[in-house]
Amino acid sequence: MVEPELTAATILVADDNWANLELLSQLLQDQGHRVVCVVDGEQAIETLLSEQIDLALLDVVMPGRTGFDICRAIKSNAETRLIPVVLVTSLTDTGDRIQGIECGADDFLNKPINREELLARVRSLLRLKQFTDELESAETVLFSLALSIEAKDPYTEGHCDRLSKYSVDLAERLSLPEALRVALRRAGTVHDIGKVAVPEHILLKPGPLTPDEWEVMKQHPVVGERICRPLKSFRHVLAIIRHHHEKLDGSGYPDGLKGEQIPLTARILQTVDIYDALTTSRPYRQALSPKKTFAVMQEEVKRGWWDASLVEELEALILGAAIPANGKS
Ligand SMILES: [Fe+2]
Repeated sequence: MVEPELTAATILVADDNWANLELLSQLLQDQGHRVVCVVDGEQAIETLLSEQIDLALLDVVMPGRTGFDICRAIKSNAETRLIPVVLVTSLTDTGDRIQGIECGADDFLNKPINREELLARVRSLLRLKQFTDELESAETVLFSLALSIEAKDPYTEGHCDRLSKYSVDLAERLSLPEALRVALRRAGTVHDIGKVAVPEHILLKPGPLTPDEWEVMKQHPVVGERICRPLKSFRHVLAIIRHHHEKLDGSGYPDGLKGEQIPLTARILQTVDIYDALTTSRPYRQALSPKKTFAVMQEEVKRGWWDASLVEELEALILGAAIPANGKS
């Protein structure tokens, strides 16, 4: 495999010892990197939040917040958690290594610093960061495309954001694992991305669609799944995209799945999608109140379309009804 060429990076070095700071800074600058030096934990956190940092080298023992504290803060913040962290320590105690790993550290360096070891570790972590950045760029392109499709229809403004939020809230209420909650957050934005293949005269038609137009519209979950399939990080999102228009009685599309054949995550997004569609104004009708919306959805549950338990959970979530989370038999 041909390795991508590493570009110059911005590296944060945090150490309360000026001699160490200068040494590390010089070694990294000699490799063409930009180095930001800080002398305590507070400055480190401020810098990480205000600058684009590609890698952090943190001394473990510093006044105030330790390297462990900073590492934990970096890894628990969605904005910074993909920044690789190397803990620099003179301590070789196994306990410190374990604590570092538990804080999410990606690697360790012992003092005194060995030049070759430092540069090898930095190179390896920057390569990883470069791959992560490329992956993030691909996700960003997909999200931008999805939002540009949403923007075509003024009546659906904010729909994707609301879907992401409500889907995640519902998933939390049902104690779904983190990976599926992340998938639902992403699916809220990209579920209709396949509409990019639907011509505008169909997409924005105010009246009912002809049978031929419906056939075109019904392809959007299939096209959406195809667009997102190359991204491995979207593997839990694909089923949601493909099946968000299925109905429990098998009358939905594109596969006519029935009941629990429809993945739970797709049923969650679908429940929230219907709710949001009914509570927002459309050219042909006014927005319904949440209470009226749930009455309509309950009728559709009786028709065999939606998952009764999910509609009830969403109702409890939105109206704060007295149904305890997971309290259903
Ligand atoms: Fe859709």
